[in-house]
Amino acid sequence: MYTFFRGRRLRNSESLRAFVRETHLRPEDFLQPYFVVETNEANFCQEIPSMPDQYQLSLAMLEKRVEKAVDKGLHALMLFGIPSSKDECGSQAWAENGIVQQAVSRLKNRWPQLLVITDVCLCEYTSHGHCGLIGKQGVENDSTLELLAKTALSHAQAGADIIAPSDMMDGRIAAIRQTLDGSGFYELPIMSYAVKYASAYYGPFRDAAKSAPKFGDRRAYQMDSANALEAVREASADAEEGADILMVKPAGPYLDIVRMIKDRFDMPIAAYQVSGEYAIIKAGAKLGYVDEKALVLESLLGIKRAGADIILTYFAETVLDWL
Ligand code: PBG
Ligand code: ZN
Repeated sequence: MYTFFRGRRLRNSESLRAFVRETHLRPEDFLQPYFVVETNEANFCQEIPSMPDQYQLSLAMLEKRVEKAVDKGLHALMLFGIPSSKDECGSQAWAENGIVQQAVSRLKNRWPQLLVITDVCLCEYTSHGHCGLIGKQGVENDSTLELLAKTALSHAQAGADIIAPSDMMDGRIAAIRQTLDGSGFYELPIMSYAVKYASAYYGPFRDAAKSAPKFGDRRAYQMDSANALEAVREASADAEEGADILMVKPAGPYLDIVRMIKDRFDMPIAAYQVSGEYAIIKAGAKLGYVDEKALVLESLLGIKRAGADIILTYFAETVLDWL
């Protein structure tokens, strides 16, 4: 006897829905970004106006904040540094006693099992706010590579568990891999911001990290939002150069790209729900237009369903309370 499909049969109770659920969020999926500031004020803790509940933190305050998160089960975090002084070439990025280097050793000393990942870029450290050295024709690629490699090595020496270059210079994964290997760090993984679009969704981050470019924009090195095939070329290059994890960024508006990269590469894939995605959800919730918890979980489930194995999100701490 013919019967038509009745999808509702498996939706009639939470027990049934849980029984057939295809995608699950786990605490280990998430990575919380933190902004650490070089300051003499030991208790410095300043909320970022466009990112409610996210803070610029001194070393001591970072440790306090991470302590709470670790108690809730935080598995991994990403560090962004805000130095007390900047210069043309971003020399504080690779300073042995730089803010990120100090933060890494402090956190790793206290929590050896916590994955401490560092963002490698120059834009937080350069006076002009660009991700590389400025030459006659704008941001110079090849001369920047050496500085990125030096920065990555200094993070490795401080004890970082994974290095995450976000600059979008060509050839940086090879340059960093070679430098790390040359100093014996051949087992230190690289999570590459492989597919990083020039995005308006980074606005709040640039307030948080004080890293907005003083002139021009980043469209000569970050990707054009209209392109998908180019994402495959970027990901292929980074995979061949030795990246261990490939990241797509932003996440929500680029789920097609997340899925495509997941299908084409037999590697762990990360996706970054960036500052603007966070800010929009927080703002909508504050206005009472949307339900924050439901929206956050749905957005994260969407990112995971699209193929992300790892999710970078400013909601990571909060999500731990909900799972
Ligand atoms: C640095 C960097 C940026 C982000 C991560 N690393 C900013 C940028 O490229 O302008 C953005 C993260 C976010 O918006 O949450 N290159
Ligand atoms: Zn940068």
